[in-house]
Amino acid sequence: MKKLSYEQYLALHNGAEILASDSFGEKVLRLKDGSIIKLFRIKRIISSALFYPYALRFVHNSSKLKKIGINTVTVINAFKIPAIKRTAVHYKELEGDTLRNHIMHHSLNIKITQKLAAFIARLHNEGVYFRSIHFGNILIIPDNSFGLIDIADMKIKNYSLNIGKRIRNFNHLTRYEIDKNSLKQQKEIFIREYLKTCNFPHDNSKKLEEKINVVLS
Ligand SMILES: Nc1ncnc2c1ncn2[C@@H]1O[C@H](COP(=O)(O)OP(=O)(O)OP(=O)(O)O)[C@@H](O)[C@H]1O
Ligand SMILES: [Mg+2]
Repeated sequence: MKKLSYEQYLALHNGAEILASDSFGEKVLRLKDGSIIKLFRIKRIISSALFYPYALRFVHNSSKLKKIGINTVTVINAFKIPAIKRTAVHYKELEGDTLRNHIMHHSLNIKITQKLAAFIARLHNEGVYFRSIHFGNILIIPDNSFGLIDIADMKIKNYSLNIGKRIRNFNHLTRYEIDKNSLKQQKEIFIREYLKTCNFPHDNSKKLEEKINVVLS
């Protein structure tokens, strides 16, 4: 990771639009050239983030996702910015809207539901366990395919997720009431398409279906 001085950081920051912030300060900035910087706080004195900074996890996850054909942001650089006690990742904007925004304006129709179910099944089949997988971190791309942002908190195995992990991930997916309600309205279509793409043997498929039904009820 490249070290940025405070002056270098301010130069990048100049004219930037703040996309997300919290009580600790700015989290995501869109720079003048349209690229994005996401900042990570080192939360505790003794933290795994000291040894494996979130910015680096983000970088590694981006390249792993691309390797397995999942659309995500393209990283330009990763920085250490000691003056503001942050690490940062600098990436190109992925064209599209968050699924949550999209649903707010267009609702979740059958076609998008089917594509979303197939996309999530593909992630699970490919061993992607994305803990922050809510509708604010899934982008819908203009060609109606999907991509992922906010990818620091993710494990990518080289084997497909077992049923337990899949269910835990469905709980992550439906953590926000607003997302869960949209999905519940298309529950049958969503589950059918998800299971079709998973292609599990009949017994496992039935078991999984029951468990997803519980999550979405
Ligand atoms: N590559 C991108 N392409 C388009 N929009 C993006 C991109 N990266 C971030 N954004 C926008 O910035 C917002 C916040 O980014 P991100 O999800 O990475 O941060 P966050 O810290 O999780 O913020 P929040 O808690 O608000 O989700 C997103 O919801 C999205 O609107
Ligand atoms: Mg987010």
